[in-house]
Amino acid sequence: MNGIRTPQQACEEDPREAAKKRRCLRGKSLLLCALMLSTVLGFALLLAFTILTGGLEPCDTKECLTLLARLLEVRNASIDPCEDFYGYACGNWEANHLRTETMESSNVFDVLLEENQLILKRLLEVPQLRVGGSTKKKAIQFYHSCMDTQQIEAEGAQPLKELINQVGGWNFTGHGKQTDFNQTLQTLMGKYNTFPFFRAYVGPSSSDPSTNIIQIDHPEFEMPPEGDYNEKANYPEVVRVYFSYLMKLGALLGGPQNVTSTSISFALSFISNLQKEVTPLQERRERRMLFYHTTIRELQEKAPAIDWLSCLQAAFHPVQLNISQPIAVHDMDYLKGMSRLIGKWQKGSVLQIYMILCLVGTLSPALDSRFQDARRELFEKLHGKTGESGMDCPSWRKCLIDTALL
Ligand SMILES: *[C@@H]1O[C@H](CO)[C@@H](O)[C@H](O)[C@H]1NC(C)=O
Ligand SMILES: *[C@@H]1O[C@H](CO)[C@@H](O)[C@H](O)[C@H]1NC(C)=O
Ligand SMILES: *[C@@H]1O[C@H](CO)[C@@H](O)[C@H](O)[C@H]1NC(C)=O
Ligand SMILES: *[C@@H]1O[C@H](CO)[C@@H](O)[C@H](O)[C@H]1NC(C)=O
Ligand SMILES: *[C@@H]1O[C@H](CO)[C@@H](O)[C@H](O)[C@H]1NC(C)=O
Repeated sequence: MNGIRTPQQACEEDPREAAKKRRCLRGKSLLLCALMLSTVLGFALLLAFTILTGGLEPCDTKECLTLLARLLEVRNASIDPCEDFYGYACGNWEANHLRTETMESSNVFDVLLEENQLILKRLLEVPQLRVGGSTKKKAIQFYHSCMDTQQIEAEGAQPLKELINQVGGWNFTGHGKQTDFNQTLQTLMGKYNTFPFFRAYVGPSSSDPSTNIIQIDHPEFEMPPEGDYNEKANYPEVVRVYFSYLMKLGALLGGPQNVTSTSISFALSFISNLQKEVTPLQERRERRMLFYHTTIRELQEKAPAIDWLSCLQAAFHPVQLNISQPIAVHDMDYLKGMSRLIGKWQKGSVLQIYMILCLVGTLSPALDSRFQDARRELFEKLHGKTGESGMDCPSWRKCLIDTALL
């Protein structure tokens, strides 16, 4: 963003903005109406209040002063309120927040989120904070462990190497051995918040938003799907960039080059096949697939390659589930396709390698700076700009999100 354009300027420049302008103006006249109404009402109330109590209360409480300071802060007093009330009342807010943010748009919710996170940060950093419940204690411990960069650098890749061996290892670190697919998947979902094949979470039901239901959707792929690159048509380059990122991780985790590249090529091929099974959002909307109510029993019939009850049980432990448990599925076609693919690929070590790569994807943000740098480089190459702060841990934000590590 180079400078600030008023909505009027923006509208004049671009005919597409004309409709927006009309809406904008309608919004403004509505706003004006509401303002006038509330002014009249306000005056009436003020009059009544003044008559009844014999005067206004002074603004000397903490809350009133804070509010006043906020209002004064966002106001641009050099604008005539009769000419541009919005500019007068909110001009400074726009000027401050649009200029300083690197994001293309910024709204009051983003700003509040940022402020809340700063409050959280202050709370976590207060050394003598009375630790009450164990959740708070864990959060503080976790935060401090994430911020202890010296220790993180000293340990290097070792903790992740050990973990990888615990869940069966992978070929190129020399610990490849026969593993049970369902068992590994349960461990990743239950203990490490890693969802390689599908995402499972709890959220409000579509039919009754006051009740929660287990929901299943496709996973969030670290490798951008081809569908995102229709126009630019440089998808092979994206895959190449992601491939070299994985190679770098492989090297950091101590794998020999030649074996690593073969394993990773197979894994990428699998990921690409998996991504092709995803039904585009638009189509899912049109076909009303987004909230398919079903049970674990039916899921087991339609997508038999996964041991659904055990996996969901592991993910939502200690909640007790049975095969009659109602769940909502957002893309049943994907789950069927995924199940077919798993059946097709289950002979080699590809599924295991893919699961390990997902685990590395979840945990490497918490590792030392070499992993951070690799990640930042990947992000810059894929998105052509400097990494967002949320991507690098030890950034406390990421640390708090990954509470499964506690
Ligand atoms: C306040 O409004 C004036 C007049 O439009 C403008 O010149 C000035 O830059 C504004 N101040 C800020 C901080 O945006
Ligand atoms: C390691 O991978 C190779 C080919 O990728 C395969 O032939 C071999 O059986 C695998 N070894 C183990 C122990 O999984
Ligand atoms: C990988 O390279 C090493 C030494 O460079 C060699 O001993 C090994 O046989 C190679 N493995 C494969 C699968 O090519
Ligand atoms: C996982 O468990 C299910 C249910 O027991 C089974 O049908 C499926 O074959 C297993 N998947 C693999 C890849 O072994
Ligand atoms: C399965 O769970 C539901 C609710 O969690 C419960 O109402 C139902 O009785 C359970 N069914 C069996 C067979 O245990």
